[in-house]
Amino acid sequence: MSASIGGLLIRPPLMNSSSPWASSHEDLSNLYECPFTGAVTTRTATLSGFQEDAAIHQVAFHSESATSINSYGYSPHPLSSYIRWVGDILGRNADSRKPFIISITTNASSELREMLGIIQALRRSLSDGTSSTRVGVEINTSCPNITGQPPMSYEPTRLRPLLDVITEFVAQDEFFVVGIKLPPYVHSNQFVDVIDVLSSISPSRAESATRSSRHPIAFLTCTNTLGSCLLFNSQTLDPKANSSDFALPTIWGGMGGESIHPLSLGNVRAFTQLLQSHSEEAMRDIVVIGVGGVTSPAAVARMQEAGASVVACATILGRKGVGVFEELVKGVKGS
Ligand SMILES: Cc1cc2nc3c(=O)[nH]c(=O)nc-3n(C[C@H](O)[C@H](O)[C@H](O)COP(=O)(O)O)c2cc1C
Repeated sequence: MSASIGGLLIRPPLMNSSSPWASSHEDLSNLYECPFTGAVTTRTATLSGFQEDAAIHQVAFHSESATSINSYGYSPHPLSSYIRWVGDILGRNADSRKPFIISITTNASSELREMLGIIQALRRSLSDGTSSTRVGVEINTSCPNITGQPPMSYEPTRLRPLLDVITEFVAQDEFFVVGIKLPPYVHSNQFVDVIDVLSSISPSRAESATRSSRHPIAFLTCTNTLGSCLLFNSQTLDPKANSSDFALPTIWGGMGGESIHPLSLGNVRAFTQLLQSHSEEAMRDIVVIGVGGVTSPAAVARMQEAGASVVACATILGRKGVGVFEELVKGVKGS
């Protein structure tokens, strides 16, 4: 009942995925202290904090299924807050091996270099540099809600400059665990395009600068929400009085929960098959974190059956709170 991603030990292989319910120091402490989470993922941070506006950035739940729609961007708290909070929680739990996955985002390689440098400084301060590590990084390349900034991973070749920065860091520290958060894809060529860009930074490639024999990317998190969805106010759990017809002020938003479960399962299965059958050994080591419509123990089991090494959820955490992990863990294989 555990999974290893590089030096991260995730036991049980169940956790939250990045969301506003993993935003504050208190949220993160509660998730960390829950005995049924094997790791904790933070809300996505930018270097300086995202300007959140409660009139625009909202979430609504469907009245008839465990489905959400949201218009959030990223965390209003800058990366430095997560560094402080993660450092504090791990410092207070020095005997625990439960890791944090710090979710970050940027489109610029220079900024990514700065952010990864800050996270590496935290790891050094925690003496987190050996075969066992308690801090990993997830680079969110797939938020569908940022006006004028389509998710980079819908055009995988745009990821290459960021992947080159990750390669530099992993070349200097092979225990640095870095993954990328991907959107739901809807066509088989899209999976192949992602695999091709990952293969282009594989250590077996002559042009690759890495000294390490491992792939710079340790995991793929599949999937983020499905963008451009629409729910009507009348379909929501808590319809707003005197509101527009729509569940969100932005009208369109990212859908999560039960409604995207089959698509997320399909993405998890497609990526695990392509990775595991890849001709390059380093590609076969990349694992998949399965996210999307995990709202019941049966859904956890389906994610594992589809190939996920670790299973995570957001919508059902928002609906039911941290206590939901005690129920979900019953679906973990071998529990
Ligand atoms: C309200 C809300 C906010 C989210 N914010 C983030 C985020 O900041 N970063 C991120 O990588 N994913 C974010 N997600 C996506 C989730 O991590 C997850 O990938 C997606 O919702 C599918 O999982 P689910 O079906 O369990 O909700 C968010 C999801 C929701 C519902």
